[in-house]
Amino acid sequence: MDASWIPDELAYAGPEHLDPAFVAGYDRKAGYEAGTRSDVDEDIAALAEQGVDGTLVDLGAGTGRLALAAAPEFRRVVAVDVSPAMQHVIRDRAAQAGLSNVECVRAGFLTYEHAGPPADAVCTRNALHQLPDFWKALALERVAGVLRPGGVLRLRDLIFDFHPREADEVIGRWLDGAATDPALGYTREDFAEHLRTEFSTFRWLLEPMLDAAGFEIVQVAFRGPIYGAYTCVKR
Ligand SMILES: C[S@@+](CC[C@H](N)C(=O)[O-])C[C@H]1O[C@@H](n2cnc3c(N)ncnc32)[C@H](O)[C@@H]1O
Repeated sequence: MDASWIPDELAYAGPEHLDPAFVAGYDRKAGYEAGTRSDVDEDIAALAEQGVDGTLVDLGAGTGRLALAAAPEFRRVVAVDVSPAMQHVIRDRAAQAGLSNVECVRAGFLTYEHAGPPADAVCTRNALHQLPDFWKALALERVAGVLRPGGVLRLRDLIFDFHPREADEVIGRWLDGAATDPALGYTREDFAEHLRTEFSTFRWLLEPMLDAAGFEIVQVAFRGPIYGAYTCVKR
């Protein structure tokens, strides 16, 4: 792509994800430290169900929770994130855990260049919403380019499973259920900021994008009207 019209992904990455202080508290805020979050295990199980165990690329890997937990299940894991602060954490954790099959690459959905044989699986968790829809569609096309035919995409994100006319009511309920302590969860203000400045899309827009990128959706599960997870196979 002509670099003159590609957005600077760092400018879209969410300033908090670039801030070492926020990143240091990320696992606590995201609920990983409380031990109550099972979605990493669900994503690894969803990949295992598809029988993939070669190369996994985690796009928007954050602090590496999925990439590091998946390392024993895959020959090669590439943890990609656009944030230097997040990459720093993953590198340290992989080294401390002695995980020699985890590679860290600082890149974004729109700039990651996959090296080596095509990947068997790509996972992306709570990151694709950082891009506007036009760029999501191009990012999914690039994800398909990273995968071998029959390769698997596991996608988890804040995705809206409701009609626009329900927005007031659904978003109101979401905000009402937010955390009150910003160190321990996402607050009402965090959710409002997500809506104002990030690009969660509707389910009924995302699914045609997946299809256009060459994916067959083989499994989908929504936890309420905001959070969805997909397993897709590249045709
Ligand atoms: C909410 S965190 C999710 C991290 C991790 N996947 C998880 O589930 O805990 C979003 C991550 O996406 C990264 N990110 C934002 N924009 C990105 C982009 N365009 N390409 C790759 N990563 C991006 C951020 O730096 C951040 O680490």
